[in-house]
Amino acid sequence: MANWTVESKRMLGQVLSADTWLPTEMPEYAQGFMYMLGSLTASSFVVLCLSGILLAMKGPASWTANEAMRFVAATHFWSVQAFFFFMMLHLWRVFFTGAWRGGRGMTWLLGAVAFLIAIPTAFTGFLINGDLYSEWNAVQAKDGLNAMGLGWVNLTNGGQMMGMHIVVLPLTLTVVIGLHITLVRMKSVVPPYPDLNSAPSEGGAES
Ligand code: HEM
Repeated sequence: MANWTVESKRMLGQVLSADTWLPTEMPEYAQGFMYMLGSLTASSFVVLCLSGILLAMKGPASWTANEAMRFVAATHFWSVQAFFFFMMLHLWRVFFTGAWRGGRGMTWLLGAVAFLIAIPTAFTGFLINGDLYSEWNAVQAKDGLNAMGLGWVNLTNGGQMMGMHIVVLPLTLTVVIGLHITLVRMKSVVPPYPDLNSAPSEGGAES
């Protein structure tokens, strides 16, 4: 009879197996560019995290201090643009191919949660820039949150926003994206919708 140990062993065996992470064959329909968009989103996220770690290690005073740090800050900024750009295109691809089908509901849900977490992650990044725009955005958004009864989220507190942007939100996002990709590896990529034009017509008579 199945119990927790047996079930965990089965799940872990599947998650950690080389067949899950290093498949030697791919379905033909998954070879196109449209199926690379998720990986491009994930790759942008890696560049985003690496450049962000450098910025966090050197601290705010360094962000515009010299050419090298301006390059790192620009890399961080442009990888955010790439991340959101590819994520939107990926979202369209998974929507139009009905990628929630075949027991992929949880994969879909985790993708949607990643999207929702990505928005405040980016927004808190704008808030810790320290220029006039970030101050204006913080005050306006704080007014908005106050009006919604969420006054305990203090967007004008730079330290709180720094903690949110460089620790809480990116770590949560990393876990959610990790689970999303793990499920994609376990369930594989969704097959296309059946081609209705090539289905035999009713009664068998071809016009
Ligand atoms: C945070 C950003 C995201 C990353 C890094 C990501 C990554 C990926 C990757 C690498 C795949 C494999 C297939 C492919 O590349 O097309 C995939 C598949 C999938 N994604 Fe995402 N994704 C993200 C956001 C989303 C969003 C917003 C949704 C929908 C609300 C979503 C739903 C799905 C579904 C249902 C699949 C599995 C079925 C299939 O591949 O056809 N993902 N994702």
